[in-house]
Amino acid sequence: MGNIALFRLFLFHGLLGISAAVTIYYAPGQNPFSTTSADASSYTGAAAYNPTTIDPPALPDPLPSLSLDFNIQSNPTGLSITQSGAFMGFSVEMSVANQILGKNSSILQVPFLNLLATIAQRAGAVRVRVGGNSQDTASEVATLDDGKVLEKDLSGVTNPTETPPLVFTPDLLYMMRNISDFVNVRWYTV
Ligand SMILES: *[C@@H]1O[C@H](CO)[C@@H](O)[C@H](O)[C@H]1NC(C)=O
Ligand SMILES: *[C@@H]1O[C@H](CO)[C@@H](O)[C@H](O)[C@H]1NC(C)=O
Repeated sequence: MGNIALFRLFLFHGLLGISAAVTIYYAPGQNPFSTTSADASSYTGAAAYNPTTIDPPALPDPLPSLSLDFNIQSNPTGLSITQSGAFMGFSVEMSVANQILGKNSSILQVPFLNLLATIAQRAGAVRVRVGGNSQDTASEVATLDDGKVLEKDLSGVTNPTETPPLVFTPDLLYMMRNISDFVNVRWYTV
């Protein structure tokens, strides 16, 4: 039954997505252009900055059925215990965390926030691990130049995977905490 309900929910989302509310986060100063439905041909600026938006097409009429029923085997062998929607997570190598999560606790990567928000909307939460072999030998320092949260010593790569020694500041952890203020993300740093 649970599976059927879940499928219905997705289908419903897909069809009504045009009018559904979506949370989009913007970096300060990067608010979207004001929108207009004016004819695109009347815009005279550079094409890359054309602010024209296209009117969404009308919904099909009649609407296709919003629910589908499937016969699911009631008790298949090998069925696992029930897992939470956030059972699956993903991993970010620590040495590139400052390219994916954000620059530091005050400059977060907006596309990453949007990705997390999309997953959390469906799974309830997101689990992200920041770690890997670059974390195995990472050490904490109080500060780094220019507000950086981590730095690699590319001249010191040693092991077979050429992992550079890494230093990070506590602000890396604050950055993760700040992301969790916006989206329900649970972190692992191992
Ligand atoms: C991010 O974290 C820092 C340090 O905890 C805090 O001072 C700052 O207000 C936070 N920024 C945002 C946008 O939440
Ligand atoms: C983040 O980096 C910016 C740009 O270098 C800097 O101005 C800001 O102070 C940094 N934020 C923190 C919390 O270090």
